[in-house]
Amino acid sequence: MRSVIDILDLSTDEIGGLIAVAEDIIANPAKYENVCRCKKLATLFFEPSTRTRMSFEAAMYELGGHVISMTDGASSSASKGESVSDTAKIVSFYADIIAMRHPKEGAALVAAKSASVPVVNAGDGGHCHPTQTLADLLTIHREKGGFSGLTVGLCGDLKFGRTVHSLVGALSRYEDIKFVLISPDELRLPDYVKDDVLDRKSIPYKETSSLDDAMGELDVLYMTRVQRERFFNEEDYLRLKDCYILTPEKLRGAKSDMAILHPLPRVNEISVAVDDDPRACYFRQAANGKYMRMALIMMLLGLHA
Ligand code: NCD
Repeated sequence: MRSVIDILDLSTDEIGGLIAVAEDIIANPAKYENVCRCKKLATLFFEPSTRTRMSFEAAMYELGGHVISMTDGASSSASKGESVSDTAKIVSFYADIIAMRHPKEGAALVAAKSASVPVVNAGDGGHCHPTQTLADLLTIHREKGGFSGLTVGLCGDLKFGRTVHSLVGALSRYEDIKFVLISPDELRLPDYVKDDVLDRKSIPYKETSSLDDAMGELDVLYMTRVQRERFFNEEDYLRLKDCYILTPEKLRGAKSDMAILHPLPRVNEISVAVDDDPRACYFRQAANGKYMRMALIMMLLGLHA
């Protein structure tokens, strides 16, 4: 029995395998429609979500399985004081696999320790979000043909953005990757990611607060939302929230084949005028999340088409 709490719980070979399965699902969806017959996914979401929860649920339905769902911590026994550990133990009696999102860093790991079925971390506070990274990786693979040799710009809230932390870890395992970390000073990538991932592996990166200066060298631009819910004080959020707004004018300096990603939801970071640009991949990215979650559910349940 195996859980996925961090993207590094999956080897690069396994990620390659998940991408291959996702591509096959896209090409031959009918082949997969009964793979999870009689299996149940439990989605336990203690924080808001649209894409992650619904794509997990759609993934299980498209594999022929069933879903039981807790969409609001306030309506569950968590509001009576039940621990994550007890909840996970109990839900293991009802479901074959659990996807869990929680505002506390480490909550999914705690759940996995007491669950007797696989637990997938669907976001733990400002820490990590491995299945968003699977969506990001499939998108980069489809748009750029692979990962090696890319210069990847990460822009916005690199401090609290859990999708950024997981993506940096995942991409750092491929050849000749470079990062440009674009953020205001207050929202820089945490030291634990810089020290444990970038410095330890001698991955080249630079930090800047100017998106304009970085634009021309990027193969991938990963925009992010300023994570309001993680701020201690609303004034700081209001001051930083619109620090980067991608517009068609800003894109004039970009490569003609740069891929623009965003985990979504966006607030103001990408003007809607960018949506029709062929480089805008963020809606395709949201669609890709479902296929990678289908591939992951099958892998963790040991099922094949
Ligand atoms: C992200 C998250 O929840 O961390 N959303 C998502 O899962 N697609 C990004 C965000 O909320 O900004």
